[in-house]
Amino acid sequence: MKVLVCYHSDDGQTAKVAGRISAVLIDKGCTVDVATAEDNPSPADYDGIIFGDSIHAGRHSRSLRRWIARHEDELDPLPKALFQVSLTSSKDDDESVAEAHRLVQQLLDTTRVEPDLVGLFAGALVYTRYGWLKRTMMSRIARAEDGDADTSKDYEYTDWEAVEQFAADAVSIFATTG
Ligand SMILES: Cc1cc2nc3c(=O)[nH]c(=O)nc-3n(C[C@H](O)[C@H](O)[C@H](O)COP(=O)(O)O)c2cc1C
Repeated sequence: MKVLVCYHSDDGQTAKVAGRISAVLIDKGCTVDVATAEDNPSPADYDGIIFGDSIHAGRHSRSLRRWIARHEDELDPLPKALFQVSLTSSKDDDESVAEAHRLVQQLLDTTRVEPDLVGLFAGALVYTRYGWLKRTMMSRIARAEDGDADTSKDYEYTDWEAVEQFAADAVSIFATTG
């Protein structure tokens, strides 16, 4: 089975998630191509597509939205799985869960592409990689929410078991619908 993993990442966490997903796929015997949305890979000739990005300022990236729009016709008939990385998904209260789903819907409202599977993953705060402005802004938000505001450290909230399960589920879906 040939699978494309297409993602956009600003600060590296979605790239890390895409890497873990592709490792699971390879482990399960798939041939995998990993590309960024900016690379603009063609989804033609794949048995399944996994695509994802992270949330910044309440929305999905322009790069992923543009890639989906460009390839809507090719993506439409293929089995596919979407993943979303955000800090919203680091919280499990009803409001945060609803917000994570709303962000997925906001992306899907702009396209007729309908994923067969959606994964919602918590991201990371990588203060040591941010520039001054981003670091100050993110630590201020974290402090206001009683979160991790010490900018001398990075914080990873991603549930890697959930990521691996998502990849395994995607392979099962691709095998039955492809
Ligand atoms: C400037 C900035 C804005 C962000 N805005 C949001 C947001 O509106 N909602 C949210 O849930 N997470 C938000 N996040 C958290 C990111 O989704 C999280 O850090 C994620 O791991 C980033 O993935 P990336 O490293 O692939 O870019 C924001 C992060 C940054 C740095």
